[in-house]
Amino acid sequence: MRICVCGAGTMGRGIALSAAQNGIHTVLYDVQKEIVDKASDTLQHDLQLLVEKQKISASEKEAILGRLLFTTDLNDCIADIIIEAIIEKEPVKVALFNQLAELNHSETIFATNTSSLSVTSIAEKVIHRERVAGMHFFNPATLMKLVEVVNTPFTNAATTEFIVDLAKKMGKTPVLCKDAPGFIVNHVARPYYLEALYLAEQGVSDFGTIDTLLEASGFRMGPFRLMDLIGNDINYTVSCSVYEQLGEPLRLRPSRIQEEKVRQGALGRKSGKGYYLYGQ
Ligand SMILES: NC(=O)c1ccc[n+]([C@@H]2O[C@H](COP(=O)([O-])OP(=O)(O)OC[C@H]3O[C@@H](n4cnc5c(N)ncnc54)[C@H](O)[C@@H]3O)[C@@H](O)[C@H]2O)c1
Repeated sequence: MRICVCGAGTMGRGIALSAAQNGIHTVLYDVQKEIVDKASDTLQHDLQLLVEKQKISASEKEAILGRLLFTTDLNDCIADIIIEAIIEKEPVKVALFNQLAELNHSETIFATNTSSLSVTSIAEKVIHRERVAGMHFFNPATLMKLVEVVNTPFTNAATTEFIVDLAKKMGKTPVLCKDAPGFIVNHVARPYYLEALYLAEQGVSDFGTIDTLLEASGFRMGPFRLMDLIGNDINYTVSCSVYEQLGEPLRLRPSRIQEEKVRQGALGRKSGKGYYLYGQ
């Protein structure tokens, strides 16, 4: 089996590594050469750390790297399944799938890692809509086990079965769900971020205090630390998308703080600053 992950950012890198670590030949594609180079450097570094911690041997590291092809050439994106983890914009995702449908064989599956867009709306615009589904990983993709497998009314049984099997091969726990705003986790988790943001908006408390209290009360990560990990651009887009798709309920109104962070380029860990500063 050969898979192709499109988008070598936060999610694409982790998805590609999870696949290669589980014996799957994986193409990792991005439009930006510097992102592909960064992904290659980061994955080599991550694997070296695993060797040093004696979690894998040096030869296993080489074998994993040997299963990864890093590329900016769309013609390399030939696979049994395309998993896109690119920018959260429907027209861009649709255009990529349709370009790749022309290049690939007639059975290739098109899976989207979208957090918040309608998978049905994407499928409707793709040439082979019966072979489109959601395959929603969580961040960091190498560690998080859950994968939401999102069916649309068009998805055929072979596509769902293939994605479920692939998720299991990657050591993940696939959970089937229907296409709905935010699917399961992003729908349930939305108030976790938004209520914390409203408290900060109103000056009730600051980011660090809110995080510390929620972590002390049992949450693995406070909302602001988690938003910085996810990426504030992604989190804001998901907030807006879920809000709009559910008919703009007041309780899910996106926060002006999210909008400001995005406008300032304070995207979280990936940009060196967000609610906190990183690596300075
Ligand atoms: N960040 C998260 O926690 C998270 C979790 C689950 C799902 N997602 C989803 O995964 C997707 C990617 O999110 P991310 O956080 O990895 O974003 P990111 O900004 O880190 O990476 C996106 C990458 O896509 C590339 N790209 C843009 N257009 C492209 C194209 N046409 N072809 C190929 N590459 C292209 C960009 O160069 C960039 O490197 C989004 O749909 C997001 O909703 C994100």
